[in-house]
Amino acid sequence: MTERTSPKPAESPPQPKSPADEVRGTTTIGTEANLEADTAGEGGTSDAGYDTDAGSRASTSICSSVRDYAFENSRRYHKFQEGRYHFPNDEPEQEREDMKHAMIINLCNGKLHFAPVENPQKVLDIGTGTGIWAVDMGDEYPEADVLGIDLSPIQPSWVPPNVRFMVDDAEAEWLHAPGTFDYIHIRHMTSSIRNWPNLVTQAYQALKPGGWIELQELRFVLECDDGTVRNDSQVLDFLNNVKKGLAEFGVDLLGMQKNKQNVLDAGFVNVEEEVLKVPLGVWPKDPKMKTIGLYNRSMIADGLHGISMGPFTRGLKWTPEEVRNRYELNRK
Ligand SMILES: C[S@@+](CC[C@H](N)C(=O)[O-])C[C@H]1O[C@@H](n2cnc3c(N)ncnc32)[C@H](O)[C@@H]1O
Repeated sequence: MTERTSPKPAESPPQPKSPADEVRGTTTIGTEANLEADTAGEGGTSDAGYDTDAGSRASTSICSSVRDYAFENSRRYHKFQEGRYHFPNDEPEQEREDMKHAMIINLCNGKLHFAPVENPQKVLDIGTGTGIWAVDMGDEYPEADVLGIDLSPIQPSWVPPNVRFMVDDAEAEWLHAPGTFDYIHIRHMTSSIRNWPNLVTQAYQALKPGGWIELQELRFVLECDDGTVRNDSQVLDFLNNVKKGLAEFGVDLLGMQKNKQNVLDAGFVNVEEEVLKVPLGVWPKDPKMKTIGLYNRSMIADGLHGISMGPFTRGLKWTPEEVRNRYELNRK
């Protein structure tokens, strides 16, 4: 699997020639060398990777009155704009999202962002989820005002005083005044967004001249360095069906592959894209990559039920029983 992160800092941040070309965009890519396998097998790993790196959390309140939930197949979903997002928002899913955050921060060597933002005053996190990135960002930049928006009001209420959350639909018309933000962050939204060009264009307009956007997405493609992915792999079958299920709702599971072009089309300059490998399982020899592979494997194993139910029952119209039987899900 490959992780695409975004804006690698330009070698020397270029000076804008005119206000019109100052808004900068995301995404780079250099391919990492093949990873070396750990021939000692799985026994050599520890679960050190499960440590959370969420920073300290001070307090403030959530600015939201939209607190209803919908329930389906023993899982809890968002109620505001019901049916827009096809994955649960309950505790197990939140734990999984926080684990994904820890995995990505590890992968990015502790960095919350690659864009060369300096002293940002206004930061927007689109689809903030549990708010874990926004909280860490608020801790890292105490001078910044960090706003996280999401369809679900699942964010904690004890957060740094410079962090707040709002229930909002990122695909609706934005009400932020043009030129509001210094930095806009979009992460793990590829299974959510139907109209990426429109989202990125709205972000462009909401950014200040000289502001940055950053998109970080997992690319849901199974690959092996030695080309030995089997065509009959059940993981491939699973991913293909998730893709088909989401396509029924106009969501492209591989939409992240167009991120760079979307960002360029919206008018951003200094756009860079970076691809990082994300191992699946504990096979890498390198301890950091082994930990990441462990996170990734746990994230998928823990998420099978939550990931499959929405796309398969809503999109492909399978019964919950069919889903459970096909993928041997033991959760009722
Ligand atoms: C996979 S989670 C990613 C959470 C967070 N960005 C992170 O990286 O930790 C996707 C989140 O996007 C939210 N979401 C999906 N569609 C949305 C929309 N149209 N507007 C706002 N939030 C949305 C979901 O509710 C969910 O919390």
